[in-house]
Amino acid sequence: MRWWQEAVVYGVYVRSFADSDGDGVGDLDGIRSRLGYLELLGVDALWLSSFYRSPMVDHGYDVADPRDVDPLFGDLEAFDALLAEAHRHGIRVVVDLIGNHTSTEHEWFRAALASAPGSPERARYHFRPGRGPGAAEPPTNWRSVFGGPAWTHVPGPEGEPGEWYLHLFSSEQPDLNWTNPEVWADLEKTLRFWADRGVDGFRVDVAHGMAKPETLPDDLRQPGWTPLGDRDNDPRFDDPGVHDVHRLIRNVIDHYPGRMAVGEVLVNDDEAFARYLRRDELHQAFDFRLRNAPFRADDVRAAIDRTLRTFASVGAEPTWTLGNHDAPRAVTRYGGGAVGTARARAMAMVTLALPGSVYLYEGEELGLPDVALPDEVLQDPRWERSGHTDRGRDGARVPMPWDDAPPGHGFSTGDPWLPMPPEYGRLAAASQLEDVSSMLSLYRRALDLRANHPGFTGGSVEWYGAPPGCFAFRRSASTLTCALNASTVPVPLPPGDVLLTSTPLRSGELPPNAAAWLI
Ligand code: BGC
Ligand code: MG
Repeated sequence: MRWWQEAVVYGVYVRSFADSDGDGVGDLDGIRSRLGYLELLGVDALWLSSFYRSPMVDHGYDVADPRDVDPLFGDLEAFDALLAEAHRHGIRVVVDLIGNHTSTEHEWFRAALASAPGSPERARYHFRPGRGPGAAEPPTNWRSVFGGPAWTHVPGPEGEPGEWYLHLFSSEQPDLNWTNPEVWADLEKTLRFWADRGVDGFRVDVAHGMAKPETLPDDLRQPGWTPLGDRDNDPRFDDPGVHDVHRLIRNVIDHYPGRMAVGEVLVNDDEAFARYLRRDELHQAFDFRLRNAPFRADDVRAAIDRTLRTFASVGAEPTWTLGNHDAPRAVTRYGGGAVGTARARAMAMVTLALPGSVYLYEGEELGLPDVALPDEVLQDPRWERSGHTDRGRDGARVPMPWDDAPPGHGFSTGDPWLPMPPEYGRLAAASQLEDVSSMLSLYRRALDLRANHPGFTGGSVEWYGAPPGCFAFRRSASTLTCALNASTVPVPLPPGDVLLTSTPLRSGELPPNAAAWLI
């Protein structure tokens, strides 16, 4: 068994976890100061969101130098100290690898802008002449994932039409050209740089992007497309060439025993998804099917089956997640308030009972909801790029409350970069730690059982018959059973001794919006 195959990995949104210097922005020293908490929680590893040198248009996912720490977050020394101390706590560290694009402030892109069309400097990105009269229209009709066109015009010298460059995200995130050998060589250098420092793994950003179809065809899908809609015919993503990139990554990582790569793979088709997990590609890929399933027993069960089938088809272990810094938080997604919280508790138990590894997102263990932020504090580039129709991801990125003292709630002695609402006091880690009925206590207990109880074994699940709106499954190599009641009435439990429930039983029955583990 490799360490990641059953690991619980805690996603740290570095900006929002803990601020050591009072500037209102989380940083590496802040994370180091909270390792005791993470050990107490019982996680095996951390995934740190991008902390590389960046002008922060997309809060670090616009990288100006992938081999340095942004001064906002610390420096390389602070990184080494965090890594060493995490390892002393028995916690591994996974870092982001951002190969689809750079920042416009990256030295390569500055050089590209300073050079002529057709130059080797421009060949590291996707520069193209425009279309239509006067070449005044973008080279394709592609849209940016954050809204607006995926091309930005760069004027030419007097009288010349200039060129357009491709950016699947904001215009400050130009896409790299993966047919260019320098791009390959540079990613390898970055991988080795962090692997040599001792990181345990890499989270590959936009793993389905990177390679682009040579002819750059127009996007022929229907208008009205949404991010969860027709992914299968999207010319921007899942180009076959992308698998060569993953083979390169794997090849380098294989020189470092015990290291892994987990991909952000937003591909709908099961067979296409599984290709990323072939033996010579990524070790893991986030599967968002469970996260995207509504809180209905049939939908959740179908998502689980689909994921298990997809991963098994290539002999890979599943990788589950209920959230990250890019999506609404679970409590809010499941309806918010007491019901959303009860459902999030139940879904945490469902997820943690499954075979494979689980990626948590900071604050999930506190049951944080999304925060309804006022327009004037929104920072996600999606807000501006969508013409103020998409509020973006800031609501799930509000800093972690550590104690009940506003405005910084133990996150910062200064003003947090996004305002923390008063209700965060009640949800703070310190408020929950001693309360046995809290979300934090549930996660601690569940993680402890998952790590130490012999029942959590067996690579597949068997489904039992269950009342309408409910399900129950058993881990294939033990009697550990997980039951979910997503119906509106209390139901009897399947046979076995109760190990843990997400909500107290009512006259021996499992209430609605609850889950139980039995042995
Ligand atoms: C990251 C996002 C980022 C995007 C572009 C995503 O997958 O998780 O936060 O905006 O990639 O780099
Ligand atoms: Mg700070």
